[in-house]
This record gives sequence, structure tokens and C-alpha cells, in this order.
Amino acid sequence: MSGKLPCRLGVLVSGSGTNLQAIIDRIESGEICAEIACVISNKADAYALTRATRHGIPIVIHENHKFSERQSYDAATVEILRSHNVDLVILAGFMRILTDVMVNAFPNAIMNIHPALLPSFQGLHAQQQALDYGVRYSGCTVHFVDCGTDTGPIILQSVVPVEQNDTEATLSARIQKAEHQTFATAIKLFVDSKIKVDGRKVLISA
Ligand code: GAR
Repeated sequence: MSGKLPCRLGVLVSGSGTNLQAIIDRIESGEICAEIACVISNKADAYALTRATRHGIPIVIHENHKFSERQSYDAATVEILRSHNVDLVILAGFMRILTDVMVNAFPNAIMNIHPALLPSFQGLHAQQQALDYGVRYSGCTVHFVDCGTDTGPIILQSVVPVEQNDTEATLSARIQKAEHQTFATAIKLFVDSKIKVDGRKVLISA
């Protein structure tokens, strides 16, 4: 066993938190050497908060409607993350675009999961966008966050087939299964110091 301290994760959520749960499960099984320092939600009723509490993880309800400017909301988020000594920020279904205040505070240390194969179908309703376009394959992308919308360097992607009779719900469910595995793998790579960013490219060592 090495004497390395577990990487401290700050997880930002807005909803159900199935990705959060997948991360918790892999930490608890010992697969990922990390600790979730806090779960921050911009929605007071997010089910992800219940999941975190069940596992004894500190939660912070940090509602964006209480802030008049996006940058001041993000500055307060940075303070919360710093006060929990977070090394890596995870956006696990956090439905807000980050400003430069957050992005610059954690350079190449904010990861997002997006339910499509970027750069296709950025933004909201990515699964419906994929269905409307008629693609045969979609999937999920884990990427570092920059100041654009779903434009940061890509860490991992997983491909999922689109079936002829898919609805947004059925395709989303299939993609989510892939998300849980792909996100956990990307976090493990970061935690194990196997990721290097070179411009737009993410290099992964064996
Ligand atoms: C996930 O499918 C994730 O890809 C998506 O929100 C869902 C959250 O699910 N994120 C985005 O669309 C971000 N643009 P969860 O709360 O069950 O993890």
C-alpha cells in the first residue's frame, strides 16, 4: 500500500444522482482511491442529496436563484470547494454552464459527463438531438471543462447503439449505463495520475 492520500472530490449535482451513486459505489469497493469531500447541489430537492446523506457525505445546498450573477454564484462555489480542500471537481448531472471564475480556479481539474459523443449534440437534450438527427450510434463523453459549452478536452468516450424504436427515455437509460462505467474509469485515471493534458489532447498513460 502506498502512503498517498485519497484524492478529494467535490461533486456538483442538480438531479437524480445515478452517476454520483456509481462513483460512491466504486470508492466504497476500493476501485477508486478517493474521498467525496462534499456534494453541492443547486437544487434543494435533488435526489442526489439523499444518496450522499445515506453514505455520510457532507452536502451543501447552493441555490443559484439566490445570486443575481453567474460569476458571483461560481465564486461562492469555489469558496465551498476550497473550504473542503477539493482536488478534483466532478459535474455529475450539474445543469449549469460554468464561468471563467470556476474554470480558472480548477484548471484541468473539472470533469463533466455529457450524454452524447461530443462534439456532436452539445448542450441540452443531447439524446433527443441524436434521435432527431437519425444517428445510428450515440454515447457519452467525459471531458475536462473549459469556458465553452461541452467543448473541453475529451478524456473518454463510450459508444451506444441507437435502436429504431428508441424514445428519449430509452436511449437515455442505455447511455446512462455507459456513463456510470465511463465516468468512474476517467476519475480513476485522474486519481491514479495517469492523465496529462496537451492542448486539446488528453494523453493517458498505461
Ligand atoms: C446524465 O445523463 C448526464 O449525462 C446529464 O445529466 C444526467 C444526470 O443524471 N448531464 C448533462 O446533460 C450535462 N449537460 P444523474 O443525475 O442520474 O447522474
